[in-house]
Amino acid sequence: MTKKIHVCVAWPYAAGDRHIGHLAGAYLPPDIFARYHRLVGNEVLMVSGSDTHGTPITVRAEQDNITPAGVVEYYHGRFVEGFLRFGLTFDLYTHTDTQTHWDVTHDLFLRHLEREYIYRAVQQQLYSIDDDRWLPDRYVEGTCPFCKFESARGDQCDNCGRTYDAIELINPRSKISGSTNIEARPTEHFFLDLGKATDFLIEWLNAPDKADWRPNVINFARAQAESRELRGRPITRDLDWGITIPVAGYADKRIYVWYDAVIGYLSATKEWAALTGSPDAWRAWWREGDASAESFYFIGKDNIPFHAIIWPAMLHGYGPVDDDGWWLKQPTDVPANEYLTLGDFKFSSSFGNVISINEAAERYQVDAWRYALTAMAPETQDSEFTWQEFVRRVNTELVANWGNLVNRVLGFAYKRFDGRVPEPGDLDEIDRAILETVRGGFESVGALYAARKFKAAVDAALRLSQEVNRYVNDKAPWQQVKTDPAAAATTVYVCLQAIDWLKLLFAPVLPLSAQAIHDYLGHDGLLFGRQYTEMVSDARGEHLTLRYDGSGATGTWQAGKLIPGQSLREPKALFIKLDEGVVEEELARMGAR
Ligand code: MF3
Ligand code: ZN
Repeated sequence: MTKKIHVCVAWPYAAGDRHIGHLAGAYLPPDIFARYHRLVGNEVLMVSGSDTHGTPITVRAEQDNITPAGVVEYYHGRFVEGFLRFGLTFDLYTHTDTQTHWDVTHDLFLRHLEREYIYRAVQQQLYSIDDDRWLPDRYVEGTCPFCKFESARGDQCDNCGRTYDAIELINPRSKISGSTNIEARPTEHFFLDLGKATDFLIEWLNAPDKADWRPNVINFARAQAESRELRGRPITRDLDWGITIPVAGYADKRIYVWYDAVIGYLSATKEWAALTGSPDAWRAWWREGDASAESFYFIGKDNIPFHAIIWPAMLHGYGPVDDDGWWLKQPTDVPANEYLTLGDFKFSSSFGNVISINEAAERYQVDAWRYALTAMAPETQDSEFTWQEFVRRVNTELVANWGNLVNRVLGFAYKRFDGRVPEPGDLDEIDRAILETVRGGFESVGALYAARKFKAAVDAALRLSQEVNRYVNDKAPWQQVKTDPAAAATTVYVCLQAIDWLKLLFAPVLPLSAQAIHDYLGHDGLLFGRQYTEMVSDARGEHLTLRYDGSGATGTWQAGKLIPGQSLREPKALFIKLDEGVVEEELARMGAR
């Protein structure tokens, strides 16, 4: 039975370049997962977009002295370009300033209000007397009320990940002026009543299907829900940038960015459906209780509360969708990553442009990055990126193992066997054993991809490649060809067959080189579809989107037979070996910033 796999990717604030830490943590994993499921033959819908609202955008606009809209337009374009270069196969990469997104946000807001998951209350908010303005979210910093971290922001602490109200910060200071001349003033806001969802959350987070959730995610979420301390969270702000409140009398306030951003998963599905010409097609992805559809939310750890508590509460609070009576689908899994760190510094966009993904794609091969960042990915703990490790992984693992196997076998086959896949003789036990071993990868490596264990998957594929290297070394076809050409033909055939399978086992992580191998082996067609950008117009204007055409061969995750006699295409070296000087060069470049 084919499944619908909804791949939901964290929406980056359009307020600073994405860097390789973001790629390793939040963007590569979903793409690997999406590609794996496409190869398996499942229907995949991978969506995300730029998060265009809130104080991250307005703070940046003030710093750069341009309009918030200008900031959004610039970074959204940078993201689309960078994601395209890294081969991230979003079926739709949009942003949150579309008409559809505004409409869906208003719909949720009004429904929550009607069902009393949203209530109004007057609250104390921080006001800077010197700056003569409110200090929502990123306009204020202070000491975290929970862990005492001193640079905690108004809505979330970067150290312990907890969320709270700015009023709870100890020693608050204005981010604009540094002033501590701050007072609490009353202001009316709308609150999302998380307390009302507590019973639901406790039950949902303890369901048996949560057993394979990552401990960092499930433990955090259960602790929050089971404390029974969840209560109303303000979801509007005294700001003029963001989605308006669909209730009269609040023209000078806006919806809090986090309330609208998570709704992006739903609105992007609707936008995608409309673009494909079947506006109702979104429903099949969102029906709670329909086991043929699953949803996976790929995020960084700072986003855990919003995806494992707040979004589930919002989905629950919406209630039945329409006359059908079904509810909005809760996340199947929230595979959050930890951080990829650089030395002592957290890779965060507020940390400056260490190396943007746009630059990264220019400087080194995309598949080399995809390999190294997957191998180093912070799946269960923070991991450290170093340039030494990057060079070492690329040279000693990717180039020396997989790249070397492909290069020498394809080169030899092309030259010595007339540019064709040779006709094998009878396979001996060793030949059969190596093919069995590699064939087993469709199950073993596949299970790891499916389980969101991408490091382990690529590691297992690499071990299979190493086995084939050992096989070819032992058989030494370049010797065999001198004395027993038929035996050499068998060896080369076995190797080509193994490479044809290994290409697929690596393809989710290394899609560009897998396509090249596919071509060299003489196959036609695409392993995956193509991506393209498109301008979409709606009532809020025109916007650039990234789309995927899904035209690739699907259902190819199987040990197909390589046909003897098939014409090969002239192979070129797959991966570039990195010069040791790269480390020095990159360190110098970074130091210069
Ligand atoms: N913009 C947020 C961030 O960069 C992430 C939003 S993910 C969301 O941390 F989709 F849920 F909104
Ligand atoms: Zn804290």
